[in-house]
Amino acid sequence: MKKDTFTFHNGVKIPSIGFGTWQIPNEEAYDSVTMALKNGYTHIDTALAYKNEENVGKAIREFATPREDIFITSKLPAEIKGYDETLEAFNETITNLGVDYLDLYLIHAPWPWSDQGKDCTEGNVQSWKAMEKLYNDGKIKAIGVSNFQIEHLQPILDECDIVPMANQIPFYVGKDQEELLSFCKDHDIVVEAYSPLATGQVLDMPELKEMAEKYDVTVAQLSIRYCLEKDTLPLPKSTHESRIIENKQLDFEISDEDIKTLEQIRDVRD
Ligand code: A2P
Repeated sequence: MKKDTFTFHNGVKIPSIGFGTWQIPNEEAYDSVTMALKNGYTHIDTALAYKNEENVGKAIREFATPREDIFITSKLPAEIKGYDETLEAFNETITNLGVDYLDLYLIHAPWPWSDQGKDCTEGNVQSWKAMEKLYNDGKIKAIGVSNFQIEHLQPILDECDIVPMANQIPFYVGKDQEELLSFCKDHDIVVEAYSPLATGQVLDMPELKEMAEKYDVTVAQLSIRYCLEKDTLPLPKSTHESRIIENKQLDFEISDEDIKTLEQIRDVRD
């Protein structure tokens, strides 16, 4: 592994690989999260919008380890903006999960999914202020955003007290988001990579297959390792135990030359 943890600007540490649960239905979430915990994942990422918090929480609570040993992230639904609304949604999340604090809470997106691009600056600022309160009250160890571009981050930086500790964005070979990454780095914001396999779409790419063979790893491992090499924190998702194990075995290094080759690859989704 490159490093075991990333450190937020407030000193809180976050394990450098998280288990992503987007697209895992509630019925399957208990088994998947249990498999992840059993196989050494200590960082689980969920969201109210995933509708699986109940079984994610059940698996974490039943796994015989102290709560403090597991890092839990959840998210404020994209369509919920505003101070009181945020406090309410947070309560719903911790009730679903059956925990009394979160390690990381994120604004899921800068606009509702049904109205992408809408200017919700004021709503985001109000939500952020509610998250600052929850943070100051000790209900959340770190706060951040997700799917935010520079234009969405800037008003938070200008109008609020706490700089977001994380920005969770889609990131995989072919989707480097260079400008956003460098902006986040400049402001000490940890970038988390969701869909590090482009929801599976990078797995059949011949260039990746060839390079993975050279390192004697799978395309999934090469792709997840690439996120770490780019200083982003990957959140791979799987419902299969063999893959859950595989996605965490990343003890190899990609050469600078091969990183450059990977940086040239075009987005498989374009
Ligand atoms: P499954 O859940 O059936 O294992 P992402 O993390 O980018 O969202 O990608 C998740 C997708 O990639 C899911 O369809 C998942 O399928 C699949 N996947 C995850 N890990 C692996 C792996 N190691 N090998 C092949 N497919 C994988």
